[in-house]
Amino acid sequence: MTRHGDIGTAVIGSGFIGTVHVEALRRIGVRVAGLLESSPELGAQRAAALGLPKAYASLAELLVDDAVQVVHVTSPNELHYPQVREILAAGRHVVCEKPLSMTSAESAQLVDLAAASGVVNAVNFNIRFYPLSQHVASLVRDGGLGDVRLVTGRYFQDWLLYDTDWNWRLERDQGGALRAVGDIGSHWLDLTTFVTGLRVESVVADLATFIPVRRKPAGPVLTFSTERAAETVPVEIHTEDVATILLRYEGGARGSLAVSQLSPGRKNSLAYQVDGSASAVAWDSEQPDQLWIGHRDRPNELLLRNPALMNAAGVAAARLPGGHVEGFADTFGAVFSAVYDDVVAGRPSPSRRYASFADGHEEMLVGDAVLESSHTGRWVEVIRPA
Ligand SMILES: NC(=O)c1ccc[n+]([C@@H]2O[C@H](COP(=O)([O-])OP(=O)(O)OC[C@H]3O[C@@H](n4cnc5c(N)ncnc54)[C@H](O)[C@@H]3O)[C@@H](O)[C@H]2O)c1
Repeated sequence: MTRHGDIGTAVIGSGFIGTVHVEALRRIGVRVAGLLESSPELGAQRAAALGLPKAYASLAELLVDDAVQVVHVTSPNELHYPQVREILAAGRHVVCEKPLSMTSAESAQLVDLAAASGVVNAVNFNIRFYPLSQHVASLVRDGGLGDVRLVTGRYFQDWLLYDTDWNWRLERDQGGALRAVGDIGSHWLDLTTFVTGLRVESVVADLATFIPVRRKPAGPVLTFSTERAAETVPVEIHTEDVATILLRYEGGARGSLAVSQLSPGRKNSLAYQVDGSASAVAWDSEQPDQLWIGHRDRPNELLLRNPALMNAAGVAAARLPGGHVEGFADTFGAVFSAVYDDVVAGRPSPSRRYASFADGHEEMLVGDAVLESSHTGRWVEVIRPA
């Protein structure tokens, strides 16, 4: 019987999130055969630091390695599409970081190519795999909240607050036309669609760029770095720092979302509340082991993540007993476990709970509507070509 330990994997990119991928893969027993970086020198350095056997010189070299059945793409956004295309052409399973691509035209192609090849395809919307997110998704499907009416929340960070804060995400040609919405708002939109089972039907969006010129360091910068560069060059910024979005969901539910990368003190707070006709739930990623459950006619509840108290989906994503807080890095182990169960089976399961390329494409389509509405100031429907 094949198990996770029989599968070999390679990781593209070993920055902030590539490192988290490598660690989580090890935790679920997958063999990481090597990594690919932007240069063979950096690759060798990073492979040594992470204790990996090999740094590939190119994607072509990686893809002729028979030890590799799955490739994780954790490079900057602009590289996702060309790299995933090549990986699919070589018949390998793919886990791609969000956003799936720079445009919905590209993501549509990737959905088709993945479907034609039959490989397992995932977009790493990892927040679905906090155990309490899984619990809520099943709770809603089982009618625990009644009819979903209102979905509200935010995704706030503060790491781009100053004009000296810099990252490749700020440049449209590397990050995409939407920045705060594409980078973090997409997580909230995917998560709330996952937990409610409702797709966004239309949006009205207001985007704002409060820092129109930033001081770009003359040298390279690490993601979430707080060091100040001595030498900088002024660069005009054409992507949003902040977004406020009204949402209409299929079936009539309403929602609102605020996204910001310059909210002082909010390091990484994705929060949502779902109000149903019977009960409500609220969750914040900065206190990920707590779920607030609201009632009208009896006292509210606070469910602390606990395998003894969650439903089966929550239990499946949990690794530790109650009271031993699980966090961001743990979600990677949980989502990869689900993905690698499919890799072991050799194909995507119809009942998968991780985000597929189709789900990644869905968020690109919602992003298109957000962008268009920000230009027209009107409600815009999410167009899903048949
Ligand atoms: N799921 C999540 O929660 C999450 C969190 C952070 C980032 N991300 C996504 O992960 C991706 C990477 O983000 P990050 O924050 O780790 O960025 P990062 O800048 O820290 O890391 C990117 C890495 O890719 C490498 N790279 C650049 N060009 C390359 C090339 N041609 N071939 C191979 N490697 C190359 C860089 O050297 C770097 O090591 C982005 O798409 C981002 O949206 C997802």
